[in-house]
Parts: sequence; structure tokens; C-alpha cells
Amino acid sequence: MDIQLKVRRQNPEGGQTPHWSEYTLDVPDHYTLLDALIQVREEVDETLSLRCSCRSHICGSCGMRINGHAGLACKTKIRELPRQITVEPMGNLPVIKDLIVDLEPFWNKLYSIDPFLKPAGDPPEREYVVPPETMLHLDGVINCIMCGACVSDCESLSVNPLFIGPTALAKEYRFVMDPRDAADRERLQQMNGPGGVWDCTHCYQCVEVCPKDVAPMERIMAMRRIMMDLGMQNHNGARRANAFVDLVGEYGRLDETRLLMRSLSGFGELLTYSKVGWRSLWKGKLPPIRPHRLASAATIRRIFERTRRQRPRRFKLYEAQQEGVKA
Ligand code: FES
Repeated sequence: MDIQLKVRRQNPEGGQTPHWSEYTLDVPDHYTLLDALIQVREEVDETLSLRCSCRSHICGSCGMRINGHAGLACKTKIRELPRQITVEPMGNLPVIKDLIVDLEPFWNKLYSIDPFLKPAGDPPEREYVVPPETMLHLDGVINCIMCGACVSDCESLSVNPLFIGPTALAKEYRFVMDPRDAADRERLQQMNGPGGVWDCTHCYQCVEVCPKDVAPMERIMAMRRIMMDLGMQNHNGARRANAFVDLVGEYGRLDETRLLMRSLSGFGELLTYSKVGWRSLWKGKLPPIRPHRLASAATIRRIFERTRRQRPRRFKLYEAQQEGVKA
């Protein structure tokens, strides 16, 4: 099978700016992208740098962008790709050389959440007995192999380097929901601040690209719901979520002006948006000051009320997980 590999190369240390190298190869049908890249390195261009180890999608070291999206080269079958393949280093991380990125910022963010169990007592007085059913729901999130694919394609991280990112937040969820961990509220409180769960913009990229179906964004949303149910609502993100629901319930539609005003912590913060407000007014983009109430607003409110009653309060599950430890 003939393929064309277009690889983004660079060597910042050697003063080399990013450029593309193209390779035409004839590879067997069963090859993975990693096999093809290794063939390039061994037979065509020994200067090509890439990282790999297990070749079995276990170690997470061969993460790279394949045709624009992060993935594991050793899990990507050549026959499932178009004949022209573009390969780039992972995004949102500094490049060391060619396809090798510096993972230090990635690990630093992970360490910042204390990624280990913090049981009550030091050392704990007795062995913890945890019923298996209180741990089963963590199966998916425990599968994370730290490949960094979610971090690479996170839209929020690309504009907000302070965001702690999907890997660390999925790991945080793993400990928050673990009945053996006693620091859950402290962890949630920490994630309620700058760079925490409210900085996620729901771009869904982390869910799309994760090779192990960890679904980090869904873990982030779950932590948001737990926080709100526990009353941790002193954040613009929480205020915005409440305002969104209240406004649609009130007017039957979203009113962006009030949404902004109700999301902010006070008048001082509102002033920082005055320039945008004036510019929107000038361009005729400001929503009406008196919002238009839909005739069907009462129906929408009833739907909201019914949904609220039906929605299982997330923290009940959370409390159930915590109960497990006392079994
Ligand atoms: S080489 Fe280990 S995950 Fe690809």
C-alpha cells in the first residue's frame, strides 16, 4: 500500500523553524502509523524524532496529531486513514524536536491536584472496606494512560494556559468520587477557583480524541453539578448556569444582556465590560433592554420544573460513594 506522510518538523534548540518533510512509502496493509514512522526513521531519514515505547496503546508515549486530531500512532491503522497523512506534534505543549513535546507542563498540572488517595487519618486506623459497586463507575476514568491527547486538542487550553486541563480534572474526579478519599470537598473547593472546572468551554474535543474513552469533559460537568448541588456557587460559571436556567424559565428565551449581568460578581466587574457593551450598542448588536417574553414562556417553565424534579441530584450518587467507605 502506497502512502504519503507529511510530517511537521522543527528543532527549536537548533534554531530550526517549523517546516514539513514528505515521505512516500510502500507499507503492508496491517501497519500502524507508528510502524510507518519507524520505517521512515530506520530506512529513509534517521533524523526524524518521535517518542514511543509499548507499541500496544498502553504507555501513552506515541501521542501526536494525525490529520489534525490528537491520537496514538500505535493505535492508528494505516488502512483506516486516507493515503495522504499529515502528522504533527501534540498541541498545547512546547515542542522539543519534531514529534516530541515537552510534557513537563502536563505533569506539573497533574501533580497540582495531588493525584493520590488522601484517606482519613494518617495513617488510617483500619483497612477500608469498599463494596465493589461503589467503584464500578470509576472504571472508565481509571483507564486514563496519560497520553495527553485531550490536552493537545483542548480549545480552552489553547487560549487559556492557566486552565488546569482535561487530564488533571478527570483525575480529580477519580479521587472526588472514590469513597476512600477524604479530601473530596477540599478538592472540589480548589476546582471551583481560577483554572478549575468552570474554565472548560464544552468544546468536546477531549471526549472525541481520548483513545481510552475517559470522557474528561463529562467528568468536568459531573463535578460542576456536584459543586452546585453542594452549594458551591460563588463563581461566575455557577452564577451563569443558574442565570441561564432562570432567564429561559422567566422569558422563554435567553436574554444575553441579563445573562452577563447576573453572571458577574458585582458592579465593578460589570464595568470591565462597558467597552464591549458600548461597541455592541453602536453596531446594533445589543439585545433589547426589555427582553421579549415568549407567549410560550409558561409552558417552558413547566418543562423546566418537571425536568428539575426528574433530574437525579448528582450529589446523592456522590454521597452514596462516600457512604461506601463506612460499609
Ligand atoms: S507506544 Fe505506547 S501507547 Fe503508543
